[in-house]
Amino acid sequence: MLSVMEAPTVFVLIAFSSIAHASVPNFAKLYRETEDLIELSKTYHRLENNDEYFVNFDHSKKPLYFGAFDFIVVGAGTAGGIVANRLSESNFKVLLVEAGPQDPDTASVPGLNGYFFNTPLDWGYNTTEEDKICLATIDKRCIYPRGKMWGGTSSLNGNVYSRGTKWDYDAWAEKVGNTDWSYENVLPYFKKAERAMFKIDLDKSYHGFSGPQRIDLLEDTPGLTTMLLRAFKERGSIEQDYNGRNPYGVSRPQNFLDRNVRAGTAHAYIRPAANRQNLLISDNSLVTKVIIANDRAVGVEFVKKGKLYFAQASKEVILSAGAINTPQILMLSGIGPSQKLIKHGIELVKDLPVGQNLQDHIAVYPIFFRTHHTYYNLTLKEQLRLWYANRRPLTAAGGKQVISFRNLEDDTSSSPDTEYIGTGPTAIGSKIATGNRFNEEFTAAYQILNEHTDFSFQVFVLHPESKGELTLQSKDPRDYPLIDFNFFAVEKDLETLYRSIQWILEIQNTKAFRNFRAERLFVPMPGCDENYEIDSKTWWYCVLRHIGSPGFHPIGSAIMGSGPWNSVTNPELKVHGIQGLRVADASVIPVTIAGHTTAPCVMIAEKVSDLIKSEHGQ
Ligand SMILES: Cc1cc2nc3c(=O)[nH]c(=O)nc-3n(C[C@H](O)[C@H](O)[C@H](O)COP(=O)(O)OP(=O)(O)OC[C@H]3O[C@@H](n4cnc5c(N)ncnc54)[C@H](O)[C@@H]3O)c2cc1C
Ligand SMILES: *[C@@H]1O[C@H](CO)[C@@H](O)[C@H](O)[C@H]1NC(C)=O
Ligand SMILES: *[C@@H]1O[C@H](CO)[C@@H](O)[C@H](O)[C@H]1NC(C)=O
Repeated sequence: MLSVMEAPTVFVLIAFSSIAHASVPNFAKLYRETEDLIELSKTYHRLENNDEYFVNFDHSKKPLYFGAFDFIVVGAGTAGGIVANRLSESNFKVLLVEAGPQDPDTASVPGLNGYFFNTPLDWGYNTTEEDKICLATIDKRCIYPRGKMWGGTSSLNGNVYSRGTKWDYDAWAEKVGNTDWSYENVLPYFKKAERAMFKIDLDKSYHGFSGPQRIDLLEDTPGLTTMLLRAFKERGSIEQDYNGRNPYGVSRPQNFLDRNVRAGTAHAYIRPAANRQNLLISDNSLVTKVIIANDRAVGVEFVKKGKLYFAQASKEVILSAGAINTPQILMLSGIGPSQKLIKHGIELVKDLPVGQNLQDHIAVYPIFFRTHHTYYNLTLKEQLRLWYANRRPLTAAGGKQVISFRNLEDDTSSSPDTEYIGTGPTAIGSKIATGNRFNEEFTAAYQILNEHTDFSFQVFVLHPESKGELTLQSKDPRDYPLIDFNFFAVEKDLETLYRSIQWILEIQNTKAFRNFRAERLFVPMPGCDENYEIDSKTWWYCVLRHIGSPGFHPIGSAIMGSGPWNSVTNPELKVHGIQGLRVADASVIPVTIAGHTTAPCVMIAEKVSDLIKSEHGQ
């Protein structure tokens, strides 16, 4: 632990928060904390700004000096926690600044993730008002969960380990004009991070077996998992490893999982490094600005418990605050589109397309089925007992059963455009599938579902063409940024989603489904059912505009590219025209990925850490 002479109170808090918790907590304590989490999520009013950091804040005071470091990493999230771990393996002095606290024990239980969206451990963001999607939600704004704790969004996400395909990374390399990002060149970093613990459908040469991040399969849900695998196979999918040579087919999902414990960045990288003498973690600290002098990043300002601090970086500042907050911090620091910064009275440091090129997958749970079985009709206590024994339902986030990638044109020589996740019972009741984001009418309609008998498919559009924008509300760091994805602006995205649903609808006619006696269950769709013939194309378009949702895989808001005319960072993730400033998180991803975004962030973090170390002589 470094000494922070100027800020003794901070030091005490940090020392406390750095004590690693046991990976499997005591039952009675976890049970109590789970009850509290569930209760809190029912009554909690989500945050609407960053005011909590500024209580008793004195604007006239100059920042307190927090100390000097070789590197400052902003955000102890998915990517940032990894960068901080890797840099502090060498004898660099590293400061990791995180807005949230340490992740609680309950975050170790994957199946509880939905509750976190309604707690202070989530930023509580919404998208701006939509007119083509999320029409079934309150105020026509989609919720946009983002973790605010050690591990960031990897501490509350769906836990699916899916890297994307060789076509995606080769397109990435081509777009940024640098083959370092080709599949061949990024694959070693996926392997470096990974410790594959599973055997079924494992394409060995594509996996790592000695990295910090354990990847594993879940136990099957009796009858259901194998029935779904059979149904996909009847529809022509082969069973194999989607992270291996060929992504096309069907398989059991691979998860960030250490036996029963969520193995996100907090578990795999931060806690193992937290007691290093040369790593200081300052949590509950909101970074408001990168300080730039003569086009060089010299440190950051952050607010903690109402006090403003300045921490100095002698080598580099690395922004890993995620695809929503990294562009916000850049713009607050004077780096962004000149017109927009000037409009808010921010002094321009560098004119770059920050916040542009914001993209996300589109996701929906469009169809439901009822079985003649009862699954997991258990008390919370019973469910937690099963979790300790590495059993479902709580080992799975969102009740995942099977995963499948497809190309609608059946072109298996290019990237898949559609993904299906069979989500079993319990997902039905989760906040993701039916959540509190729906308005009263739709919430009432979804009451028809039974979380112990019903299952569903989640369908993703993997390469949507619609692009949006992230902008500031004002120059005040207390204000949340405006998140506008422009979903379905390109109507082809809606058509793609419709067509992928047509394919999965056919699955009800398989022998597997018929033998299982799984029956389609129609949730009433107010506004659509009365106006259009059910299952017609116009009905589906109406339904998808209402219940379609962001995929929560934001990318591109500090996009990587060849020069300042088309991007924010170069292929070494350095912000164009600024010395000592890099971005390492999902914001740099320049192309949509046929996979989920955690694994790509892990790869980016591992790769940039190597790059930084070698540039600084390690
Ligand atoms: C509900 C949900 C389900 C998902 N499911 C999956 C899945 O199953 N599989 C998958 O691969 N991906 C999934 N994702 C996406 C994936 O989790 C994210 O893309 C990924 O975690 C992003 O990593 P990141 O490093 O870019 O940002 P984050 O992990 O969000 O890290 C950013 C960190 O920076 C901190 N921070 C932000 N601003 C500041 C500031 N001003 N000062 C200090 N600290 C700050 C944040 O608190 C956070 O800890 C899901 C996402 C969501 C929301
Ligand atoms: C998000 O939307 C909900 C529901 O309309 C609202 O209560 C909340 O204040 C919004 N939060 C923000 C940050 O806009
Ligand atoms: C679950 O158990 C409760 C209490 O025993 C019972 O009332 C309910 O009908 C069961 N649900 C299902 C789907 O079997």
